[in-house]
Amino acid sequence: MKTIYLDLREKDGGEREKIRVAADILKNGGLVGLPTETVYGLAANALDPEALERIFTAKGRPQDNPLILTVAGAEALERYCRDIPPEAYRLTEIFWPGPLTLVLKCRSELVPSAVTAGLPTVAVRCPSHPVALSIIREAGIPLAAPSANASGRPSCTSAQDVLEDMDTRIEAVVDGGACSVGVESTIIDLTCSPARLLRPGGLPAEEIERVIGPIEIDEAVLGALAEGASPKAPGMKYRHYAPKAPVTVVVGEPEKTAREILRISEPGSGVICFDEFAPLFVGRVIHPLGPVNDKGIQAQRVFGALRTFDTSDVAEIFAQCPDEGGLGLAVGNRLKKAAGFKIIKI
Ligand code: TXA
Ligand code: MG
Repeated sequence: MKTIYLDLREKDGGEREKIRVAADILKNGGLVGLPTETVYGLAANALDPEALERIFTAKGRPQDNPLILTVAGAEALERYCRDIPPEAYRLTEIFWPGPLTLVLKCRSELVPSAVTAGLPTVAVRCPSHPVALSIIREAGIPLAAPSANASGRPSCTSAQDVLEDMDTRIEAVVDGGACSVGVESTIIDLTCSPARLLRPGGLPAEEIERVIGPIEIDEAVLGALAEGASPKAPGMKYRHYAPKAPVTVVVGEPEKTAREILRISEPGSGVICFDEFAPLFVGRVIHPLGPVNDKGIQAQRVFGALRTFDTSDVAEIFAQCPDEGGLGLAVGNRLKKAAGFKIIKI
């Protein structure tokens, strides 16, 4: 199949037509790679079981990993979900559209069970990227939109990344430029009390706590799960984001972790480091993560850093890691997952 490329980076007068083309493909059961503010999504009509099946095939996604129902606004909650707690309304009022996914107790009868991979609960998100919102509105249907990477690979933060993984497997890719957030949405489970953080992401947990009070952090966020354990977000159990070379994350004060990585790495090793320390790693293949104090930039760069190592022939990769405050929890989680939780604490 030839994948149509729809460039929406610049306003050239053809935007409406391109949005219509993407929406028509989705309405007809096709797959479209599209930009969201977090990462690129691989979208299909969430109400069409055959289109949903095609997502799993194109991504090589395990059948027990549910999809996020992606909608254009909070008014969709009552249409597609049941048993909605007051916290859901408070959170969506403040943070939607934006990088927050809510897990709610029950899907409505309109939503096929393939969306939730048989789970009783349903995850819902409203992205803030104008292109994603326009396509959902134009199509007039909710989308199922997992991250557009092939299963197991780092998520895609550009249309080129999507083509790398999905060219010829999907009908179209819409280019909306680089993703402004860079890590996936924060997933919060509202089916339990207190609410539980299932995946740290583009909305820091502290901001959620400011609205609904203390939340618990699921064990799958912080460490490797025991063999056979089943996390509440099924996707958290799979090895993820992993480049081909093994990754080791070094955690601690940036000066100390930089020195440790210099000590244990060799010329030719891959290094993901804060910008300030890049000059230290002479002879290493470096991907700077951003300044120590700018976790926003680190989030934008983390997947690109992991992904681009696959085009070099490094045998091992060492990564510095931000502290767990703010977006640091999400950036650190992606690095640690890529490392299979192989962590050195200094
Ligand atoms: O930012 C994002 O959320 C991106 C963009 C494209 O919207 N999407 C995304 O989708 O990250 P995906 O499929 O790569 O990750 C969805 C995660 C998986 O870990 C999945 O297991 C979890 O959400 N999930 C989906 N439905 C769930 C449910 N009912 N209960 C618990 N976890 C759920
Ligand atoms: Mg994903």
